[in-house]
Amino acid sequence: MQDLQQKREGFSSGLAVFFATLGSAVGLGNIWKFPYLTGQFGGGAFLLIYFLCIILVGLPIMLGEFYLGRSTRKNVVGAYEQIKPGQGWGYTGIMAVLGVYFIMFFYSCVAGWVYLYLFKAISGDFAGITAAVAKAQFGGVVVGPWSPIIWQVIVMATVSAILIMGVKQGIERITKTLMPLLFILIILCDIRALTLPGAGAGVDFMFNVDFSKITAPVILTALGLSFFKLSLGIGTMVTYSSYFTHDNNLFGTAAKVAVSDTLVSMLAGLAIFPAVFSFGMEPGAGPGLLFMTIPLVFSQMPLGSILLIAFFFLSSIAATTAMLSLVEVPVAYFVEEKGYGRKKAVMVNALIILGFGVLAALSADSSALLGQVTVFGKSFFDLFDYLSSNVILPLGGLIVAIFVGYVVKPAELRRELTNDGAIPVVLFDAFVFILRYITPVLLVLVFLSSIGVIK
Ligand code: PFF
Repeated sequence: MQDLQQKREGFSSGLAVFFATLGSAVGLGNIWKFPYLTGQFGGGAFLLIYFLCIILVGLPIMLGEFYLGRSTRKNVVGAYEQIKPGQGWGYTGIMAVLGVYFIMFFYSCVAGWVYLYLFKAISGDFAGITAAVAKAQFGGVVVGPWSPIIWQVIVMATVSAILIMGVKQGIERITKTLMPLLFILIILCDIRALTLPGAGAGVDFMFNVDFSKITAPVILTALGLSFFKLSLGIGTMVTYSSYFTHDNNLFGTAAKVAVSDTLVSMLAGLAIFPAVFSFGMEPGAGPGLLFMTIPLVFSQMPLGSILLIAFFFLSSIAATTAMLSLVEVPVAYFVEEKGYGRKKAVMVNALIILGFGVLAALSADSSALLGQVTVFGKSFFDLFDYLSSNVILPLGGLIVAIFVGYVVKPAELRRELTNDGAIPVVLFDAFVFILRYITPVLLVLVFLSSIGVIK
C-alpha cells in the first residue's frame, strides 16, 4: 500500500492543474448542450439562472470534491473510505463510478458524431449543402447502424491511448497542449460569426433577460447543466484533485475553472447564435442544433469550409479532454482498489463503455435499430442522459455537500482548504456557510420539484 502511495503520479504544476481541470469541465457540454438548452429555454433568462447555480451550488461542491481528493490522494471510493472507514460511505463512491459509466455510454456516442463531422468537414462533404441535405446527413449518422458504432470505437481508442500514457505523460501533456488551441479556434469562429450581417439578433437572444421565462423546469435544467458542465457529482473532481500539487490554491483553481468554462460556453454561444439568426434558422432546434445548423450556416459563409474544420476540431478536443477525466474515475478505482495494472484497467473500462455504449449509439433516433425500445418510457440514449444529468449528478452533489459540510471534521477541512492557514479564512467561512445551509437546500428543493412533489 505504502508502495502504491509512493508511486502515485500527479500533475507537475499549478498550470497543469488548471488546464487538466478546465479540460474536464470544457466539453460537449459547452458546445452541444449549453447552446441548445439556452436556445430551447429562452436565452438570457436561462443564462441568469445558470450563473446563480454555478455560484451557489457548483463552486461549493467543486471545492468539496477538491477536499476529498487532495486530502486523501485516493480514487473516489478510497477517498470516502479513508475519511470515514467502514460506515458505508464507499458505496457512494461506487455510485459515482456508475454515474461515470452512464455518462460515457452516451457521451462517447455523441463524441463519435463529432469526430465523424470533423472527418466530413475535412473531406469537404458540407460544401454547398441545403437545409434538407444537412438534416438528411445528420439523420443518416444517427440512424447508422455501423458508422456511429465505428466512430464510437475510434473515440474510445483515442481516449484509452492517452490514458494508458499516464497522468503526466498522457492527461497533463495533452490538456496543456490542446486547451490553449481550443481557445484560439473558438475565438476565430466568434470573429467570423459576429461580423456577419444581422449577427446582433443572436447576441440579443443570448443576453436579453425575460423574467417571465423563469419556470421550475428552467431552474432544474440549469442546475443539471451546471453539474454536468463543471464535471460534478460523480467523482471526476475528486479523482483529478488527488493528483493536484500540495500548495495549489483550491479556491483559486475552482474560481478560474468555473469562470473560464463559462467563458467558453459564452464564446460557443456567440459563435453559434449570431450565425443561426443571420441565416434565419431556429435557435431552439434541440440536440441537432450543432450537427444540422452549424454545417449549414458555416458552409454558406465566406471562409466557411475552413471554419467548419476549426469548429469540429475544437469540439473534438473538448470532448476528448472531458472524456479523459471521466474514464480516469473508474481507472483509478480499478488500479487502487482492485489491484489492476493501469493498462489493463483502461482496456477493461473501454470495453465496458463500448459494450453498453452501443445501446446508446443504436437508439439516438427513433428510426434507429433500437430507437423504438424503451425503458421507463425512454430510449437507451435518453435514459442514460436523463439518469446521469438529472438524477445521479445532483444526488452525488448532495452527498458531497452533506459529507463535507457535516461529517468531515471542520478543523481538518479548514487545514486542507486553506493550505494550513496560507489562504484567508473568510473565504473558507463563506464556503462552509454556503455548503452547509444553501447548497443542500437548493438541491433538495429542485429534486422535489423534479419528481413533482412541489410545483
Ligand atoms: N463537463 C463535461 C462537459 O461539459 O462536456 C462533461 C462531464 C465531464 C460531465 C466529467 C461530468 C463529468 F464528471
